[in-house]
Amino acid sequence: MKIELAPSILSANFAQLGSDAQQAIDGGGTVLHVDIMDGHFVPNITIGPPVVRWLRKVIQVPLDCHLMIENPDFFIPEFADVGADWISVHQEACIHLDRTLHLIASHGCKPGVVLNPATPVETLTEVLDLVHHVLVMSVNPGFGGQKFIPNSLNKIAALVRMRAERKLDFRIEVDGGVDLETVSDIVKAGAELLVAGNAVFGHGDIRSNAAKLLEAARAATLARA
Ligand code: DX5
Ligand code: ZN
Repeated sequence: MKIELAPSILSANFAQLGSDAQQAIDGGGTVLHVDIMDGHFVPNITIGPPVVRWLRKVIQVPLDCHLMIENPDFFIPEFADVGADWISVHQEACIHLDRTLHLIASHGCKPGVVLNPATPVETLTEVLDLVHHVLVMSVNPGFGGQKFIPNSLNKIAALVRMRAERKLDFRIEVDGGVDLETVSDIVKAGAELLVAGNAVFGHGDIRSNAAKLLEAARAATLARA
């Protein structure tokens, strides 16, 4: 299992977004996590397709667009068009989740599904064969810098079991409160795509924050083996 760090630009300095994002990639980030919030599905507003379009021009790694919006079907074609590589939608926001995941794939993007902390993993049994990744929210979505919710570890472990039982190959991503304190338990539970905002961009040197977090994550894989 390959551990990857997906720096979340939510905590970056938006006045120097390209440079901040690049520093996180230089520190070992191999996917860039982009949080899209509409002020309805979550109580915060962030960015839309124009920012993704400009990031695409300067960033070489896959753009992982996490849609925290109502009616994602309406925006999926546009995010695909401006250069999103992965698009994930919330189970809670999609009445026709099967259709939405197919829509993402039909636009040439990798489909992902996201679970809020209160949503059980069992709600995904019928779509696990359609997704490239399952994103377990380990905080309630909307803001960076929140505290990791420990029950997320049980959800990650349950997804590992479901994936093995069904011989599937979706990847397991975790988002919220990932830092030097929590990353070891998260990796040991079985997550392999680690989203981190505050721990990478919140303080100090972005590049070395990313490198240290990735190093701690890799060390935990060795401990698990
Ligand atoms: C929260 C976002 C996260 C956020 C995580 O709703 O989905 O991607 O950036 O931030 P940290 O790593 O600071 O908890
Ligand atoms: Zn996110």
